[in-house]
Amino acid sequence: MTASPTNRFLAPDAAARPPAHVRHAKLIGWVAEMAALTEAKDVYWCDGSDAEYERLAAQLCAAGTFTRLDPTLRPRSYLARSSPSDVARVEDRTFICSERAEDAGPTNNWKAPAEMRALLRTGLADGTPPLFRGCMRGRTMYVVPFSMGPLGSEIAHIGVELTDSAYVAVSMKIMTRMGRAVLEVLGNDGHFVPCMHSVGAPLAPGAKDVAWPCNPVKYIVHYPETQEIWSYGSGYGGNALLGKKCFALRIASNMGRDAANAAEGRPGWLAEHMLILGVTSPSGRKRHVAAAFPSACGKTNFAMLIPPPTLSGWKVTTIGDDIAWIKPGKDGRLFAINPEAGYFGVAPGTNEKTNPNCMASVAHDTIFTNVALTDDGDVWWEGMTDVPPAHLIDWQARDWTPALAKETGVKAAHPNSRFTVAATNNPALDPAWDSPAGVPIDAFIFGGRRSTTVPLVTEARDWTEGVYMAATMGSETTAAAGGAQGVVRRDPFAMLPFTGYNMSDYFQHWLDLGAILARSGATLPKIFCVNWFRKGADGKFVWPGYGENMRVLRWIVERVEGSASGELNAFGLTPRYRDLDWSGLDFDPARYALVSSVDRDAWAGELVLHDELFRQLAHRLPAELPEVRGRLAARLAG
Ligand code: OXD
Ligand code: MN
Repeated sequence: MTASPTNRFLAPDAAARPPAHVRHAKLIGWVAEMAALTEAKDVYWCDGSDAEYERLAAQLCAAGTFTRLDPTLRPRSYLARSSPSDVARVEDRTFICSERAEDAGPTNNWKAPAEMRALLRTGLADGTPPLFRGCMRGRTMYVVPFSMGPLGSEIAHIGVELTDSAYVAVSMKIMTRMGRAVLEVLGNDGHFVPCMHSVGAPLAPGAKDVAWPCNPVKYIVHYPETQEIWSYGSGYGGNALLGKKCFALRIASNMGRDAANAAEGRPGWLAEHMLILGVTSPSGRKRHVAAAFPSACGKTNFAMLIPPPTLSGWKVTTIGDDIAWIKPGKDGRLFAINPEAGYFGVAPGTNEKTNPNCMASVAHDTIFTNVALTDDGDVWWEGMTDVPPAHLIDWQARDWTPALAKETGVKAAHPNSRFTVAATNNPALDPAWDSPAGVPIDAFIFGGRRSTTVPLVTEARDWTEGVYMAATMGSETTAAAGGAQGVVRRDPFAMLPFTGYNMSDYFQHWLDLGAILARSGATLPKIFCVNWFRKGADGKFVWPGYGENMRVLRWIVERVEGSASGELNAFGLTPRYRDLDWSGLDFDPARYALVSSVDRDAWAGELVLHDELFRQLAHRLPAELPEVRGRLAARLAG
C-alpha cells in the first residue's frame, strides 16, 4: 500500500506542486530546495490522519521494518528491530554549531557552522560532496509538520521535519501534534524550526532495501543562532525524532535563554529534561511538580506513580514524562507544558508492579522497538514477568531461551528498547495535560542514580542552593546513550547531553530567572534533590522505590504547604524518620539511615568532584556556585 497520492508529488516539480492547502511560501521553497539537494524520489506531505498512520504502518510491515503484533494480544501494535549499530542516542556525534565555540561551552561538541554546513550541505573545498547530496535517492521524503505543545498555545512552537524514514513519520504522529492542523496554525508566514533528517542510505535503482536503513557515519547537528537541526545516519529515537531532544531541549533551551534579559528584568523561560506530575491530597488539594532525572532513571515510572494502599487517598496524574517547557505567568508563577504528545519510554524493568499505568498504556496502539517477540505474537522484555517465556525471538531476530540467557548473559530485549505510545493511552493522564496555559509548578525535584552519598531526599535552603544541587548532580550512566554504563558522571540538571549552549550560561540563566521572579514578589517553587538508588553492602537497592516514592512526594508537597518538618544538615534539609509516613511499609530506622545519612568522608570526596566540574566550567561560571560550595564545605568541617 502507498501513501495517499493527493499528498505526493515528484521531486522535480516540488516547488510547483505542493498540496493545495499548503500556503507557506518559505516552507514550500525549503521543501523544494531539500528535495533537490537530497534527490528524493518523491515528496509526501503528512496530514497526520489515522488513515495515513495505518497506510504507513502497512508499508513498514511490507518493508520488513515492522512486524504486526497479534491483534488480540496487542491490538494495532508493531515491533521494529533496529540495526544493532543504531540503538541509542549518539552523544559523541551530537554537535552544537554556534558561531563561537565558547557559546557551545566545554560540555558540548562544537564545529564552526560554516565547516559543518560544508560537510552536510554544500560540500568541501577539495570537492568532497556534502553528506546530504543525493542521500534520499530512491526514497520518499516525508514532510512532517508538528507542534511542540498544544496547538496554538502561547508556550508552544512549531517545527517541520523532513525525513526519509516512514518509521520516523509514524513515530512523530504519536510523539507530537502532527499534520495538517499544524499547517493551518502556521498559515502563510508563521515561524517554524526546520528539522532535516536522513538515515543516510540512498537506494540504487532496483536495489533491495534493508529493514532498518542507517549509516555508520552519524551527525546530530544544531545551529542555535539560526534555529536549525540537521540529523544524518540514524533512524533511532532521540537521534531521529527531531521534535524531542534536538528541538524541545537543545534548540528550545536556546530560545528560552535568548528571551531573557537580566538587565531589563525579562526572565525568559526554561526548556528542561523534566517530567511534570499533578499530586492531589486526600482533601482534594492539587499541586504540581516538575522533576529532572537523567535518561533511564525512572521518569516515566515517577510520572505514572500509583500510591501504596495505605496512602491511597493521594493521587498522582501525568502531565508529561520527559520534557517540560516552563514560562513565567503574569503573576510571576512558573507554568509548565509538556511539549510532547506521547511517551518514548524504556521498556526493560516495566511491569505490572513497577508501573501498572504504563503497562495499561502500552496494551494497544503502540510501536515497540528492540524488544523481544513471543511465539504467540506478543512482546516481552527483561523484567516484564518474573518467569520469562520458554522461547522468544530476541531483538536481533535470533532464537532466545532462558537457558541460553543463563549461559551467555544475552538479553532478549535491548537494554534501551523502547515503547512509543500516545499520552492519551495513559489511564493516569492529567485532565490539564493538553492545557494551552500549562500548570503552575510548586516544586522542582532533581534526582540522579547514585549508589552512595546522596540522601533519599533533601530540600534546598533557597533557590541558589537548589541551583547548586542541580548543577552538581551526578549520576551513573545508563544504556540510553552509547558508551560505558554505570560510571558516575556529572549530569547538571540531567541536561548534560541536552543543554544547547554553554552550561555555565545555563546556570546563570536559572539564577537570573529566580532572582528576577523573586524581585517581582513571586513565590518561587521549592527545590528538592532525591536519590532512589542507594545500595546496601549486599549491592542491592535499599529503598523500595516505585509506588513507595509517594512517601517522599507527600513530604515534598507538605513542605511546600509548610506542614511537614525536617532537620537541617550540611547539604540542606532532610526528613527525620518520624517526618515520613511509614504506614503499610516495613522499613525500620536502621534501613532509613542507610538511605538518608550524610557521610562526611563521602561528601568530602563528592566536593572534590564538584570542584572538578567547576574547573571544567570555570569560564563564565556564576560566582554564586563556588560560594555555595564554600558554605557547604564549612558546614561539613564544622
Ligand atoms: C530519552 C532519553 O529518550 O533521555 O528520553 O534518552
Ligand atoms: Mn529523556
